[in-house]
Amino acid sequence: MDLDMLVAPLTAEEFIRDHWPNVPGFFAGDPVRLAPLVEAIPELASATSALEVFGDRVSIIRPDGFFANVANGKAALPFYNAEFTCLLRSAERFIPGLQLAIDQISGELGMPGSVFHCDIFASTGQNASAYEDASGLAMHSDAEVNLALLLTGRKVWQWAPNEHVRNQTTTVLRGDRQVSKSHFRIADKLPFPTAMPGDAASAEVTSGGMMFMPRGWWHTTKAYGECLQVNFAMIGPTWISILTEALSDRLMQDAAWREYAYGIAATGESRSSAEADFGRLLGDLAGYLRGDAAAKELLSSVAPHDADGQARSSRA
Ligand SMILES: [Fe+2]
Repeated sequence: MDLDMLVAPLTAEEFIRDHWPNVPGFFAGDPVRLAPLVEAIPELASATSALEVFGDRVSIIRPDGFFANVANGKAALPFYNAEFTCLLRSAERFIPGLQLAIDQISGELGMPGSVFHCDIFASTGQNASAYEDASGLAMHSDAEVNLALLLTGRKVWQWAPNEHVRNQTTTVLRGDRQVSKSHFRIADKLPFPTAMPGDAASAEVTSGGMMFMPRGWWHTTKAYGECLQVNFAMIGPTWISILTEALSDRLMQDAAWREYAYGIAATGESRSSAEADFGRLLGDLAGYLRGDAAAKELLSSVAPHDADGQARSSRA
């Protein structure tokens, strides 16, 4: 599976030009295009076949707010059949074809494979009428860049730009109930809204359809019928993580930086001496960071490239 297939009827080139990484887009659906995918990745033939091979914790979710985890896919099967939505995180760990797809697609998007993962959502939808007003996911905005491929079922999406926080690093919910309190500090605008704006866009995606939901867009989903969806999701790295990881690697090679920071909790002369020592190290570092080679060297240490310029996956 490659990017052309995932974003069809657009070509990979058109998708990268017009959508990646910040502009939402959708393709309503074409079940015919799924045949070669299921042939290549037979575990995706049904929710049952995916659950059967999934060897880690599965979250079981109900629209009324019920949430629990069970040990693995086999243990989740009765819950799936009893109308719970099942979430299989990082399914590429158990479905090799998805890992191959990640390696291919991430390379085409110029990112290392290690920043992508595949989540599978499965629900029978047989009991949807019992939750008519609550089915699907409430308004939220994700840190992930998400290519959501719907294999079966019908999903109605609504979306609008999140102007309350730029470049969020975790999921942002509506209102005051936030996953990360730090997002109150980094927000541009507060309070967070409690409802989708009236001019939100919407689309209905059916079997074989795809929704591209970039980082930082409010969205809601409503699922109908037997839904099986594979999300190719990318999260990070940020320039913060690139810098801190690469610098840490580099400084670890330097005995002076490995020294214990004696005196930092002292008062008087010992504390001043600690500040002076740290200041000297920072001065040397500032000289290196201003140099021409720093960006290239630091980036190479966290995102190595092969001789032909292809990013190497850091996943073993
Ligand atoms: Fe989402």
